[in-house]
Parts: sequence; structure tokens; C-alpha cells
Amino acid sequence: MTQDEMKKAAAWAALQYVEAGTVVGVGTGSTVNHFIDALGSVKDTIKGAVSSSEASTEKLKALGIDVFELNDVSELDIYVDGADEINAHNQMIKGGGAALTREKIVAAVARQFICIVDNTKHVDALGQFPLPVEVIPMARSYVARELLKLGGDPVYRQGVVTDNGNVILDVHGLSITQAAELEEKINQIVGVVTNGLFAQRGANIVITGTPEGPQIK
Ligand code: 5RP
Repeated sequence: MTQDEMKKAAAWAALQYVEAGTVVGVGTGSTVNHFIDALGSVKDTIKGAVSSSEASTEKLKALGIDVFELNDVSELDIYVDGADEINAHNQMIKGGGAALTREKIVAAVARQFICIVDNTKHVDALGQFPLPVEVIPMARSYVARELLKLGGDPVYRQGVVTDNGNVILDVHGLSITQAAELEEKINQIVGVVTNGLFAQRGANIVITGTPEGPQIK
């Protein structure tokens, strides 16, 4: 079974959490693209979606799914998204697709975060995947110096501008043992919009695609 087949199996398994008549929170990435295809198969039963990126919005609309502004939605039952890494406490690193800030906002509104991953995303300790940090452009060098003080090695993601008009620093070499504390510490650096640690608000349900089929925890 390929990695993409495992992503697809996890994504389609998430459909069981989609309730008729609701607005569904939708993340970003290749695993979520499979989930959007799955959502397309039940599009006549749902009210629509709230999206975490321009890319997902485009794909949702192309399938005929209504996309609502988050400000026009008072509650969301579920938010479905992938992850770059996930640990045993359901804490994640996200932002490989540079959509971390909108992802964190939509996740904050949702009652349940359903994480869909293939089995390569599970790790004992977060941090092998460089931690994405979204930064206001004029603060890039300052924030990079502050991240160095935290023991990381920040690398400017060249040529990438987020949907919010900001830049991304990918922080290599962090040994993340206290994920929730580090999430807060990095977010306190002036100029940081947010970072890709989803530790304070982790996943409620994790669906992992494996060669034996999707496993739900
Ligand atoms: C985008 C994300 C994605 O969820 C993460 O990068 C996983 O992507 P994929 O499903 O393509 O492996 O956080 O910002």
C-alpha cells in the first residue's frame, strides 16, 4: 500500500463523523484533498464547509460545496485536517503547507479536531519535522534571532507567502519535550503570527491509514 493510499483510506474513514445538515471545518494538504473528494460524495446532505486555505476553498467550490466565512458560522462540530507529525498525546506539528494560522483558527472553533494521517506521521517525539512559524515579513530577522536563542535553527522558506501575506520560518533541530510550553513561548515572540505546534489544542480523534486499514484512536 502506498503512502497516498493510506492517506486516502484515513480521509474517507473521516466521513463517518460528518453529520447531515452541518458545516464542516476543512484543513489543507494532500490528505485533506482526499477528504474533500469524500465530502463531495455527500455534498447534498451537508450545509457546506469552512476552509483553512485558498487551495482547499478552490477544491471545495470546484466540487460544488458551499464555502462559508468563519465569521458567519457560530459553531462547528468537526474540523478535519492532516498533520506533519503526531505524538502519542495527539499533539501535532502542522504547517508543511503553510496554512497553519488559518488551520489553528478553524480548529479553535470546532468541537472536535479529527486528524487524518498515514502511519508515517506518528513519532515518539515531535521535532524531526522542522517546526513552521508564520511571521510578519518585517519581523523575519528579529524572530529568527529569537528562535536561535531557543535552540532552534530557523530557515526562511524562500518564495512562500502565506494566504495572510506573511512568511514562514522552518525551525530545525528543536528537541520538543514540552510541546504546549514551547507553543506558547514561540507565540509570545513579537512578530510571530503563530507556530505549527498544535499542542494546547491537540486532536480529539486520530484516524491513521495503515496497510491493515484505517485505525481510529
Ligand atoms: C498544511 C498542513 C498539513 O496538514 C500537513 O502539512 C500535512 O500535509 P499532507 O496531508 O499533505 O501530508 O498542516 O499546512
